[in-house]
Amino acid sequence: MPQFESLQSEADAAIAAATDTAELERLRVAYLGRKGQVTVALRGLKDLPADQRPEAGAEIQAIRAHIEQALAERGEALAETEIQAQVSAEQLDVTLRGRTLPPGARHPTILTLQRICNWFARFGYGVNYGPEIEDDYHNFEALNIPPQHPARAMHDTFYFGDGRLLRTHTSPVQVRTMSESKPPIRIIAPGRVYRCDSDPTHSPMFHQVEGLCIEENVSMADLKGVVTAFLRDFFEDREIETRFRASYFPFTEPSAEVDVRRAGGDWLEVLGCGMVHPAVLREGGIDPERYTGFAFGMGVERLAMLYYGIRDLRVMFANDLRFLDQFGGTAQ
Ligand code: PHE
Repeated sequence: MPQFESLQSEADAAIAAATDTAELERLRVAYLGRKGQVTVALRGLKDLPADQRPEAGAEIQAIRAHIEQALAERGEALAETEIQAQVSAEQLDVTLRGRTLPPGARHPTILTLQRICNWFARFGYGVNYGPEIEDDYHNFEALNIPPQHPARAMHDTFYFGDGRLLRTHTSPVQVRTMSESKPPIRIIAPGRVYRCDSDPTHSPMFHQVEGLCIEENVSMADLKGVVTAFLRDFFEDREIETRFRASYFPFTEPSAEVDVRRAGGDWLEVLGCGMVHPAVLREGGIDPERYTGFAFGMGVERLAMLYYGIRDLRVMFANDLRFLDQFGGTAQ
């Protein structure tokens, strides 16, 4: 029957021309759906004379099977092409450069702390840390600074009002070390300290490195030798001059402040030190008749600025990358 033949050839052409699976689905509905042409033709069989129905029925069923098969084959082919297209569209180019974070640099204060710690490690000094939130006993009393002592006025202390305070120096680590260990003792204690003082040359937070050496027969000459050798190495300058100026700290006796001078420069104070006061040794459970010791405390920012030639203290705390990027090196 000619109208059925044209139905099949039209369907074949349309299916072959379909370019995606969505279009194919529209064709399936148009031919085989409830109102599709094949379905309608099947339903029309009842209007044919009875003797023609079997032949027409068989023919339409054949067309239907043919279209179903054509749709399935074309569907597979299109699905395959679509998957291929998707795969190549989503392909990852693993040779593309990643988004990297620029590497950071250590802060000059940290670099300096590391250089100091490494130097003392070579002479057998271990590293101790104490809490930044201290109590009055460790920060003052055990260091021979009783409640009404005028030396407290020098410290510009941040008090919490409950007996606790922010440590004003790293010397409380001396006290903690003595109460926890027996001589011989050789430690340094790096860390942050706090003073209620802020102007272009003072920061309310800065770093110190404390040193403590307690042994039998340790003298001021040992202190002088260690500190002088350290400063010479630290500044990488054999010609550097050092000056031990008599001074006063309640926890050392005698006490000195140390100044350095580089060729053509001015004297600059870098460190406080002295022989550990017998009262401090006794408070720490160490017999001052048997042992002597020396202690020192240095300002890390001050040393870093002198070493790197930084003139303004404020850049040490500003976190300006233009400044920090200059210290790309690693510790020695
Ligand atoms: N703690 C003193 C200060 O902060 C420095 C110091 C340490 C002095 C050890 C003597 C001995 O100024």
